[in-house]
Amino acid sequence: MISFKTFPDGFEYIEVVNSIAKAKIALQGAHLFHYERHGETPLLWVSKASNFTLGESIRGGIPLCWPWFGMHKTDADMPQHGFARTFMWKLIDSKDLQNTSKLTLLLVSSEESLTLWPYQFELTYTLTIGRELSLELTTKNLDTEAFSITQALHTYFNISHISNIHVNGLQNKPYFDALTGENIIQKGAVTFNSEIDRVYQNVNKPINLMDKRKKITISTNGSNSAVVWNPWIEKCARMSAMENDSYKTMVCIESANAFDDARTIEPGDTHTLKASIVRT
Ligand code: BG6
Repeated sequence: MISFKTFPDGFEYIEVVNSIAKAKIALQGAHLFHYERHGETPLLWVSKASNFTLGESIRGGIPLCWPWFGMHKTDADMPQHGFARTFMWKLIDSKDLQNTSKLTLLLVSSEESLTLWPYQFELTYTLTIGRELSLELTTKNLDTEAFSITQALHTYFNISHISNIHVNGLQNKPYFDALTGENIIQKGAVTFNSEIDRVYQNVNKPINLMDKRKKITISTNGSNSAVVWNPWIEKCARMSAMENDSYKTMVCIESANAFDDARTIEPGDTHTLKASIVRT
């Protein structure tokens, strides 16, 4: 079943319930902020301090970073991670089968987007909610000039405790360490005992998030980069919509096209970033 819901302050979202899973997607940012298979804990982490406020990205779930990931290249006043995560999207298609539900949302260039980024575009996001969570973000260039994008499915995973997890699948991959500005090669699994903010390149096989009693596998298409982020104690304390101990129960593993993996799209062409996420 797919239904439209509203928080008391008017913040709208779509609720999806089928025989396998339940999900919630805000129209602002096409932001998936809840996904859980019946009988299991939610896959995605959402901050208890997150406001569902128009114009502010939800802290948790899967914000869509687009058409740039991180800071704008030349203008520090531009919104971090682009504007798709705070713009209003439209639901353009939905299919409700017994075990999966499929939703497609659309964002097109507008007067407002053109003031932030001077290109005509069409962005479609298809979410398939079932045993697996499948996400496809397609950028179509409707302009007369080629444009280049960086982007990420900024996925906040719910974890038992940061000291219980490690991340496999990034061994021997080069990464840019955003904390030191260095380029480093990953040795072994990624473990967490301080702040981590890294953009991995040449990512060409699934990534596994290993937790105490669960394994989450993230497989991608159209993406050769991945971001791994945990703010740890000090950054967590100074960030918006985070509680002091939030860093203990979340980790971001973001399927991306970032840094060297930026994509140039010619007029009329498309690029699709796809991620399939499954818990076993
Ligand atoms: C991550 C970045 O992707 O997003 C971090 O690597 C950043 O540097 C984090 O702090 C959260 O960003 P924001 O804009 O949602 O606070």
